[in-house]
Amino acid sequence: MVKLAPSILSADFARLGEAAKAAEEAGADLLHLDIMDGRFVPNLTFGPVVVRALAGATALPLSAHLMVVEPERLFERFVEAGAREICFHLEATPHPHRLLAQLRELGVRAGIAINPGTPVEALIDLLPEADAVLLMSVNPGFAGQAFIERTYDRLTRLNELRRRENPELTIAVDGGVTPENAPRLARLGADVLVAASSVYNHRAPVRDNLDRFRRALASQG
Ligand code: DX5
Ligand code: ZN
Repeated sequence: MVKLAPSILSADFARLGEAAKAAEEAGADLLHLDIMDGRFVPNLTFGPVVVRALAGATALPLSAHLMVVEPERLFERFVEAGAREICFHLEATPHPHRLLAQLRELGVRAGIAINPGTPVEALIDLLPEADAVLLMSVNPGFAGQAFIERTYDRLTRLNELRRRENPELTIAVDGGVTPENAPRLARLGADVLVAASSVYNHRAPVRDNLDRFRRALASQG
């Protein structure tokens, strides 16, 4: 079954602990934390201090998505704060191979994120060294953007590369994910679906929104 990873990016930032707890009680599988530095992406969010607080507020495994330059400078601090998986961007470093090894040495799952404009084939020699790929289906920086349709083709190609290079690898899709596109993403090989605005919004409580995902995945998955 595909895992659901709510991103608190569109939750109420004055109530992050409650948002994390709501996801946990609604049956989420992990919590996705969008870390932005105002340089790799235009936006700024939060850092290890907030991650540590969230680790105390929920039992969900925490996955940190680092949209930052020089991500390796922050690895240890996010590990100490309680992250179980750390994904840095391929585009943020000339040494992705080394950084994946560093994450594994730190005892967390080593993830690599890739922007919509970067060919998935650029990951080929990194896949054996990675535990997870975060395939961006929007340009990182903001919640609530439209899903980029070409992601379906990219996911198909990445799934094929995984078969050859590292069948243990987890593929997560991040950006514009909804109950409508979730089943197709699952069929094409996504193991984890990240969603902010389809989970945290004014339309319905988190539980109802996660139920919509599960119903959609059960009926077409
Ligand atoms: C985008 C972030 C995503 C974002 C997704 O920069 O990496 O995780 O929170 O938001 P939605 O699901 O609203 O597209
Ligand atoms: Zn993200």
